[in-house]
Amino acid sequence: MAGTRTLTIIKPDAFGSGKAGKIVAHLEAAGFRVVTSRVLHLSTAQAEAFYEVHRARPFFASLVKFMTTGPCMPMILERENAVLELRTVIGATDPAEAAPGTVRKLYAVSKESNAIHASDSDDNAQRESNFFFAETEIIAAR
Ligand code: CMP
Repeated sequence: MAGTRTLTIIKPDAFGSGKAGKIVAHLEAAGFRVVTSRVLHLSTAQAEAFYEVHRARPFFASLVKFMTTGPCMPMILERENAVLELRTVIGATDPAEAAPGTVRKLYAVSKESNAIHASDSDDNAQRESNFFFAETEIIAAR
């Protein structure tokens, strides 16, 4: 991925309330290219595995429950310095603290129902991309 790609998820709150199109347009306007995407409804086991790193946190069970409430839309995005740039564009975890004009300020409901996920490092971007997409899908999109 070499700093040019990251993984995002339009979460069930935003996907279910019809905001996916607006969010993708926002990301494209910020210079990201959609490399590949899909829509799926995570099982409890899948959500637990994706957020494994947060297993010890007090919000883990609630986060897993929320992520399984409906379909979500993972995407691999590409642009220079993708991980850092995407985290800037989506804003702080809590929409109340997110900067004006960020995806979470515009579309998130709360700290948990916060519209969108973004990988926090190149290593996690790779791991999270492999979680949702087969190598063939990623290579085919190059
Ligand atoms: P995300 O970027 O997907 O990474 C972990 C998620 O945990 C985060 O977005 C939030 O949706 C959620 N989260 C983080 N902190 C809290 C919290 N204090 N209460 C509830 N959910 C949280």
